[in-house]
Amino acid sequence: MSDINLKLPQGFLFGYATASYQTEGSTTTHRGPSIWDTFTHNDPSPIADGSSGDVATDSFRRWKSDIALLQSYGATAYRFSISWSRIIPKGGRRDEVNEEGIKFYRGVIEELVKVGITPCITLYHWDLPQELDDRYGGWLNREITEDFVHYAKTCFKAFGDLVKHWITHNEPWCISVLGYGHGVFAPGRSSNRTRSKEGDSGTEPWIVAHHLILSHAFTVKLYREEFAGTAGGTGGGQIGITLDCGWYIPYDSDSQECIDAAQGALDSRVGWFADPIYKGHYPSSLVSHLGDRLPRFTPEEIEVVHGSSDFFGLNTYTSNLVQPGGTDDFNGRVKTGFVRKDGSQLGIQADVPWLQMYAPGFRALLGYLWKTYNKSIYVTENGFPVKGENDLKPAEAVHDTDRIEYFRGYTGAVLDAIHVDGVDIKSYFAWSLLDNFEWADGYRTRFGVTFVNYETQERFPKDSAIFLKRWYEQHRHEHNNY
Ligand code: NOJ
Repeated sequence: MSDINLKLPQGFLFGYATASYQTEGSTTTHRGPSIWDTFTHNDPSPIADGSSGDVATDSFRRWKSDIALLQSYGATAYRFSISWSRIIPKGGRRDEVNEEGIKFYRGVIEELVKVGITPCITLYHWDLPQELDDRYGGWLNREITEDFVHYAKTCFKAFGDLVKHWITHNEPWCISVLGYGHGVFAPGRSSNRTRSKEGDSGTEPWIVAHHLILSHAFTVKLYREEFAGTAGGTGGGQIGITLDCGWYIPYDSDSQECIDAAQGALDSRVGWFADPIYKGHYPSSLVSHLGDRLPRFTPEEIEVVHGSSDFFGLNTYTSNLVQPGGTDDFNGRVKTGFVRKDGSQLGIQADVPWLQMYAPGFRALLGYLWKTYNKSIYVTENGFPVKGENDLKPAEAVHDTDRIEYFRGYTGAVLDAIHVDGVDIKSYFAWSLLDNFEWADGYRTRFGVTFVNYETQERFPKDSAIFLKRWYEQHRHEHNNY
């Protein structure tokens, strides 16, 4: 554990993250339908508890008290996403803009600024306007890049005077692989038709990923040309992308095959997106493995893609032990797990099968990304759902010892990465401010530092919120005076 005297750098952002579909609800008020509305209402339901984001945490109506909660937790920043179909209900560049949607987010942003919380906006956290999927196949069609840039521009114009931190896409790996490979996320396309619409899992994830990267890059180009400087009158802002990645540990540290497999897992999880953006090309391991299934950038495109992120946005939760010869990275080469060679578990098991607590892996990942991509890192999500928490009454659930243990280890890793390893880390956003709609898991999986009673929408702060508040107070820079 880290020394309590270690300080965070000046300007460090501490706070919480959420996303529109997971929290807002009010899906038919001042908003067009999104692919998540359609997906969750499929029959049979693809969601574990048969639920949807129709109500979620009702934050479209309760946003003011959510901000008050953030204040009470000592947050200096809030990362949230904008629902594209609230801004442009049909999504396209020739479709109508919804002034009510703009007014809503403007109100949220103004309140945040008023109370001294820095707004950090994610433009795309998975809720694509349904119309764009119907019109031309959504992310499968290159047409989408122009519509996304137009939507982003509408947001820059409407909010750019107050918002200086922008994230284009959240976790493009999940969008591509879970939405178009396994089909467990909207729009639910997969070759495995038992649970999805018919798609081609062997090609579509890479086409979608390619269009996500291009739409990101052209948006950043526009922002830099028209908004980041003084030309657009909005003053200097930061813009980048948020990628998701765990740390990959060779199952057998003496085996070259396991070492190579761990690197392969990193390439296919994070290098797939980070290499084009920060280095100017797809990882060679993906190029050789995927052949023609991996789309290519034209020289003009790669010029826009290369260098198109001011920072490295990182969502991270877990570590994995890696061996060659499985399909767990979706590129068909590695097997991942949590059981060590000696039979022991990597860490405490979370309420989801893909997460075990292992803070040293977080520190190693931060060091790897810093060394490999040489960009300041914004930790944009990190958190832990406590096993069995959903079965508890609020009065019991708020004593979330395992989550505190997780945050103790992971925030300690942030301090060590900064002070011992020299990594430039600019933020720590915990996931999440509230329990919320956890995609295919529905409401059963609770990631929040606030327990939500979904029947009454009552909020109950968990002990972990108090832990993080104290952590930040203890380590904040003396000139970060809130
Ligand atoms: C990643 C996603 O960005 C977020 O929406 C999700 O709820 C959390 N991780 C937890 O799975």
